[in-house]
Amino acid sequence: MPSIFVTRAIPGSGIKRLKNAGYRVTVYSKDQIITRKELLAGVKGKHGILCLLTDRIDAEVMEAAGPTLKIIANYAVGFDNVDLVEAKKRNIIVTNTPSDAVNDAVAEHTFALVLALAHRIPEGDVYAKAKKYQGWNPNLLIGTILKEKTIGIIGAGRIGASVAERAALGFGMRVLYSDRARNRDLENLTGATLVPLDRLLSASDVVSLHVPLLPATHHLISTEQFALMKKTAFLVNTARGPVVDEKALLRALKTRRIAGAALDVFECEPAIDCDLTDRLELKAFSNVILSPHIASATIEAREAMSKLAADNIHLVLSGKPPLTPAK
Ligand code: DGY
Repeated sequence: MPSIFVTRAIPGSGIKRLKNAGYRVTVYSKDQIITRKELLAGVKGKHGILCLLTDRIDAEVMEAAGPTLKIIANYAVGFDNVDLVEAKKRNIIVTNTPSDAVNDAVAEHTFALVLALAHRIPEGDVYAKAKKYQGWNPNLLIGTILKEKTIGIIGAGRIGASVAERAALGFGMRVLYSDRARNRDLENLTGATLVPLDRLLSASDVVSLHVPLLPATHHLISTEQFALMKKTAFLVNTARGPVVDEKALLRALKTRRIAGAALDVFECEPAIDCDLTDRLELKAFSNVILSPHIASATIEAREAMSKLAADNIHLVLSGKPPLTPAK
């Protein structure tokens, strides 16, 4: 039976499904990001790799696996960690794990961050736990309501559309979006308006990022874009860290160019210190919320990702097309 290398133990039924289907499955034994050396050794002679966004899967890895390798199943929606061009050259299929469960998880997490920023919840938590609360105070931690405010969705794919839906139908927000293509379903459902990026930035009270990481989206939000944003606006990034130029974000926060930011993803992941000084400064802002890349970390999303990755592997190794090819 074909053999599969899994780069880290994952939650959900995926590994069990593969084993039940008779595959020889090797799971990296440590609960940590696999080292390059261990990755190169682990994939040798395997037919499938089930990998994570923390693994760089490039020509060297494909070469190390050898000619048996038929599928790279990335346990994530984003697949910027996999060299698609190289995989295509070698006739290796690459898959990802989009699903309703992931959309819902990331959209809810995005909204948790938006609400936390607007209602200053982390600041209140720190304040109360520090025993500073002396009784109701009309001036304490005044936030802002979302109703009738404008959210700008950058990237109106499945996740961006799920965020827009919550914003419009759940919170009564106006929705602007920017994308390469018009999303008429989204417009009909939410009344969203497609606008150029510059207009979205200057008109939005909340800017939420939902684009994949590509050369064209690297540092999509930098000094020039912060300069267009309202001083009262919040930036939320649950997409990929390098979409935001974090040095420019830091400057925007220091000069109060924007009102706050919430980041679930970071520019130098998995490292937290691409610029140690700046990074530490970013952490020091009370109007910045950092969550450790957990937007899709729900039982439902992890199970859907796990099952889908396993099903894609099984289909490809049975000579059938996968359910969700990366494209
Ligand atoms: C993804 O799926 O791309 C997320 O970043 C992790 O689930």
